[in-house]
Amino acid sequence: MPVTTVSACLPVLGAEVRAPLDTGEDVPYAALDYAASAPALRAVWDEVAAFLPSYGSVHRGAGYLSRLSTELFEESRATVAAFLGCRPDDALIFTRSTTDSLNLLAGALPEGCQVFVFATEHHAALLPWDRHGRAAVTCLPAPSTPEQAVAILRAALAQAAPGPKLLCVTGASNVTGELWPVADLAATARSFGARTVLDAAQLAPHRPVDIAALGVDWVALSGHKLYAPFGAGVLAGRADWLSPAEPYLAGGGASAVVSASPDAGVEVTWHTAPEVRHEAGSPNVVGAYALAAACRALDAAGFPALVAREERLLASLLTGLAETPGVRVLWLFGQDAPRVGVVSFVVAGWESGALARALSDRYGIGVRDGLFCAHPLVQALLGDRAEDGDGDCDGPLKAVRASFGAGTPDEHIERLVRAVRELAAAGPPD
Ligand code: ALA
Repeated sequence: MPVTTVSACLPVLGAEVRAPLDTGEDVPYAALDYAASAPALRAVWDEVAAFLPSYGSVHRGAGYLSRLSTELFEESRATVAAFLGCRPDDALIFTRSTTDSLNLLAGALPEGCQVFVFATEHHAALLPWDRHGRAAVTCLPAPSTPEQAVAILRAALAQAAPGPKLLCVTGASNVTGELWPVADLAATARSFGARTVLDAAQLAPHRPVDIAALGVDWVALSGHKLYAPFGAGVLAGRADWLSPAEPYLAGGGASAVVSASPDAGVEVTWHTAPEVRHEAGSPNVVGAYALAAACRALDAAGFPALVAREERLLASLLTGLAETPGVRVLWLFGQDAPRVGVVSFVVAGWESGALARALSDRYGIGVRDGLFCAHPLVQALLGDRAEDGDGDCDGPLKAVRASFGAGTPDEHIERLVRAVRELAAAGPPD
């Protein structure tokens, strides 16, 4: 079947990689697992390569390259803060990932904080909150519409006791790709005196994220999903809970004054500025620089163009899957709910791990299979499937997820649709 190849919107590394097939041939690799880790933008790689000869210690040296690296590190902080629409008094801390960022915030919750989180969240947003024994977690039921999500939150907050409260919510589901009504949820939270932290891991690569416009208090994201896989993530937002919190790591950089003696032991006074207090040790200047480079590249491309292109690819994938007998796409809010380029599905007769493996071995397509670190959500969605008898499935219930973004050529989506159609028709191997 002839395919029309339209180049990707933004060049990424890995476009030339060829994947071995089980026939012994090889084909261009179709990376359709952006939601797990997106490929590096070429612009990011080029900027990092240009920077590396200037690499030096950050915040620790008087030499030229130390000063230069420190300057670029702090400029990167400002670039990412601008990309996220931070308010002037917001702090921006470089972390390792979204998981790291949310764990950092969990350690900074005020005593007795009540945390509200939907059962549909990724484990990174579901699990950190009560680990320090200072917070009580209320798990909200899965909504079936965005409006219902707001109503569920409102009802829960109306019954909450006085005291500090936090809502943690995703911007886009890593399972269904569906967009959550973040601004409405944050406004509802605010009306009850609650704060909001946005898990933007899956949103930021696909849509503009503006902390001030959304009315959220913090945003967490990962560089490796934002085309900058150099080990940096971000927690950005209000400083007031972060400044008095126990430093995330104890060590150099975070400590302002330290004394140690056999008589008095070790004593320390910590810095209070969040980005100093919570960035102990040598910062990941390359990661921060790469993240800033990704923000520059995405801004230069412009989200309107990126979104328009992604929506075209998404429509083509969803139409292709809908026309394939035996395929069921997973969703919470409905078939036509707005979503980013993340689509999970199951195919009747196929165990999802075997299907993902066949996509790789026979077509050179890389997708993820499993429960996607969101076990409650995927199990609930697949449970519905079992109840309505929509296809049978051998082995443990799991799904396959295809996810894509700014570096995805049309041909990858066309190949996936063709592959799923052929595999669904053929059924699994005996
Ligand atoms: N959270 C990442 C995913 O959904 C790892 O695949």
